[in-house]
Amino acid sequence: MSLSTREIMEMAHQHLMGNVTRFELALTHGRGMKVWDAEGREYLDFLGGIATCALGYAPEAVIRTISEQAGKLIHVSNYYYTEPLVRLAARLTGSSGLDKAFFCNSGGEANEAALKLARKYSHDLYGPGRYGVITAQGSFHGRTLGTISATGQDQVKRGFEPLLPGFTHVPYGDLAALKAAVTPETCAIMLEPILGEGGVVVPPPDYLPGVADLCAEKKLLLILDEIQTGLGRTGQPYAFQHYDLKPHIMTLAKALGGGVASGAMLAQDEVAAHLTPGSHSTTVGGAPLAMAVGLVMVETILEPAFLKNVAETGRYFLERLQNLARELGPLAKEARGQGLLVGLELTRPSGPVAAGMIKRGFLISATAGTVLRFAPPLIATPAEVDILIPALKETIQTLGK
Ligand SMILES: Cc1ncc(COP(=O)(O)O)c(C=O)c1O
Repeated sequence: MSLSTREIMEMAHQHLMGNVTRFELALTHGRGMKVWDAEGREYLDFLGGIATCALGYAPEAVIRTISEQAGKLIHVSNYYYTEPLVRLAARLTGSSGLDKAFFCNSGGEANEAALKLARKYSHDLYGPGRYGVITAQGSFHGRTLGTISATGQDQVKRGFEPLLPGFTHVPYGDLAALKAAVTPETCAIMLEPILGEGGVVVPPPDYLPGVADLCAEKKLLLILDEIQTGLGRTGQPYAFQHYDLKPHIMTLAKALGGGVASGAMLAQDEVAAHLTPGSHSTTVGGAPLAMAVGLVMVETILEPAFLKNVAETGRYFLERLQNLARELGPLAKEARGQGLLVGLELTRPSGPVAAGMIKRGFLISATAGTVLRFAPPLIATPAEVDILIPALKETIQTLGK
């Protein structure tokens, strides 16, 4: 017999480390944009496993691929080639304009690889000492020691010191601050095209092109962390494609595996060449199961009609949130976002709203203290947005009284 939510929670308290705070909710299965809990209650999911379940729950093509690939090869050592590995690499490089791919198992690992590659490239070209990386205040790049050093949020670092040296954090969206932070020791600038965990912050339109120009002028590597924004989330295959620029290195994860652990780092040839044989690796990264799933995810997402739906539903969603922000008056500050990564900044803590929405049958996330973040499966349509908005309004207004 299946366990109840209460029983699952009791076992969790007994056996799991307390490193994350969970809602009082145990999920059992899902389909499309819906998930069900252990008591059979239904939820409409506007978080999508934090931008990961990009095709929703139980997508037929992914189920079929997992079953077929599992019957052939789940994993082989990276001493050998496999077809899914090279096919996915070709699709990602072809769609991004970058030249080479490296695969791993998570976003943090992809960023760790990017930081290592930036250091190695700079070391090979300029010698030791030029290893500094500038990142943004409020950024989030992962939970490894390297990526918490890169992350611009104190709460992920506390107690884990000493951190890696060489990281400088500047206000996001401020080109002048970035220019002023460059020193002879700087080798790279690492940015999210939109701050995700940092509260869905969209930079001014001239920011990223300005950063790319600065990198060209100072011979710095531009690393874009597209772990949350990449693979269709913003309505383009990659968020940098909203601009006329190309990063030297880009990282992906989340939607790449649709929940199967997977991450990737892509780079231009000139940079990628410095990851020489034996310099970096991982056992399960690039395994055929994750690569086959990745190929289905990427093929589906990169269809022009699919991306058009993301852009159109995203525009509709943002418009409705902007109207809601106006209706909420002093309770809300602003709505913002791009594609299906949208946020509503409140004037009070957003956590209780996310908890209140669960009681009404919706999954959303609270981030950056006062922001509600929505990153639904990319199959979302205006019909689901129409169901969400009134419930959101009532929840915020009830809690605001
Ligand atoms: C922009 C960004 N970078 C890196 C990460 C870390 O990815 P992972 O949790 O897969 O290690 C995240 C996760 O939320 C993210 O949003």
